[in-house]
Amino acid sequence: MIIKNNLKGMEDLATAIIVCDKDLTIKHINPSAEILFELSHEKVINKSINLFFEEIEFFKNALNQAKSKKSSYREHEYFIKTNQNKIVCVSFIITPIEHEEFDFIVEFIQMDQHLRVAREERMFIQQQANSELLRNLAHEIRNPLGGLRGAAQLLEKELDEQALKEYTQIIITEADRLQNLMNKLLTPHQLPVYKRTNIHEVLERVRSLILSEFPEHLKLTRDYDVSLPEFIGDREKLIQAVLNVARNAVQAMLQNNKKNEMNLDFITRAESQIVFHKKKHATAIRLDIVDNGPGIDSELLDKIFYPLVSGKEYGSGLGLSLAQNFITQHNGMIDCSSTPGKTTFSIILPIENNLKINEVV
Ligand SMILES: Nc1ncnc2c1ncn2[C@@H]1O[C@H](COP(=O)(O)OP(=O)(O)OP(=O)(O)O)[C@@H](O)[C@H]1O
Ligand SMILES: [Mg+2]
Repeated sequence: MIIKNNLKGMEDLATAIIVCDKDLTIKHINPSAEILFELSHEKVINKSINLFFEEIEFFKNALNQAKSKKSSYREHEYFIKTNQNKIVCVSFIITPIEHEEFDFIVEFIQMDQHLRVAREERMFIQQQANSELLRNLAHEIRNPLGGLRGAAQLLEKELDEQALKEYTQIIITEADRLQNLMNKLLTPHQLPVYKRTNIHEVLERVRSLILSEFPEHLKLTRDYDVSLPEFIGDREKLIQAVLNVARNAVQAMLQNNKKNEMNLDFITRAESQIVFHKKKHATAIRLDIVDNGPGIDSELLDKIFYPLVSGKEYGSGLGLSLAQNFITQHNGMIDCSSTPGKTTFSIILPIENNLKINEVV
C-alpha cells in the first residue's frame, strides 16, 4: 500500500485521492483531487470529510461497511459540489488502511458525463429491441406451456402419494405464473398490477420456490433490513426477476461440483442519494443476491443481460433479460459483479418510483 511508507507517491497519480484520520479529518489531498474539486491544499487540510460528503451519516456508514468487510467500499455515480459550486459526478472508493496516523483513503474517479448518457441511451434502445424479441418468443412459449400444465394435472390424478403431489403442484403453479407472464409480454398495453409491495415478501416467496426446486445442500442466508419501507410495484414481476437471478446462482453453484458449499445470500439495505437513469433518487432499496459459485467470465459478463445470451448448453438466455426488463419497469436497475467464488447481482429499486397503484380490489 502506497500510504504505508510515504505519501509522496500519491502526488503524481492521475486519480484524485484524499487521506483522513480516525476523526474523519482530511490529512492529505493530492494535486489531482485539488484540481477536481477546485480547492487548494490549505483550504482542505484539517477540515472534516463532510467538505466533500455533506451526508456525513451516509459516508460513515460506507466507511463502516468497508472496515467490517476489511475491503474497499465502492460507490458509483455520486455527486459532489466543488468549491465553485460546480457539480461533479464521481465514482469513489474508500479503503481503510493500517497506519498510526491515518485511517482510510478515498479515491475519486470522475465519470465522463457524455459517456454515461450515451451508455444509458444505448441500454434503453437495446432494451426496446429486447422487449420486441421477448414478445415474439412469448408467443412461441405459450402453447407448449398449456400442454405441460395439462399433463401435470393428469399426472396428479394418477398419484396416490401426497409428497409426490407437491411436485406436480409446483409444476402447475409455476406454469400458471409463467403463463401469466407470457400473457403480459404478449399484450404490452395491458396494465401491470401495481400495489403496495414489501421487498421481503417477494424474497420470501422466491426463497420457498428456490428451496423446493433445489432442496439439497443449498444454504440460503437472509440478511434483511426489516425497516425498509414498502413501495409500489408489480409483485409477480419482481418475484420473477429475483427468481431468475437466484436460479442462475444455484445452477452455477451446482456446476461447481462442490455441492456441500453452496451458499446463496439475500441481502437488503437502504441506499440514499443514488443516481441512475439520469435521475437522483433520495432513497432506494438495494438487494444483493450473492453466490459462491464459479463466477462469470469477464467476456460473458458484458453480455449477460442481452436476450438469448447463455453460458449453458441448454440455456435459453432469457432469464436475465426478463429480469432487467421487469426491474426497469420499476424505474430500477440491475447490475452484476463477479469473481470466482463470489458473484453479486445488485438490484436497486427506488422507493419513489412514480408508479401508481392500479390493483382492482
Ligand atoms: N450467478 C451466476 N454465476 C455464474 N454464471 C451466471 C450467473 N448468473 C448468470 N450467469 C451466466 O449468465 C448466463 C445468462 O443467464 P440467463 O438467466 O439470462 O440465461 P440462462 O440461465 O442461460 O437461461 P434461462 O434463464 O433463460 O433459462 C447464464 O447462462 C450463465 O452462464
Ligand atoms: Mg437463467
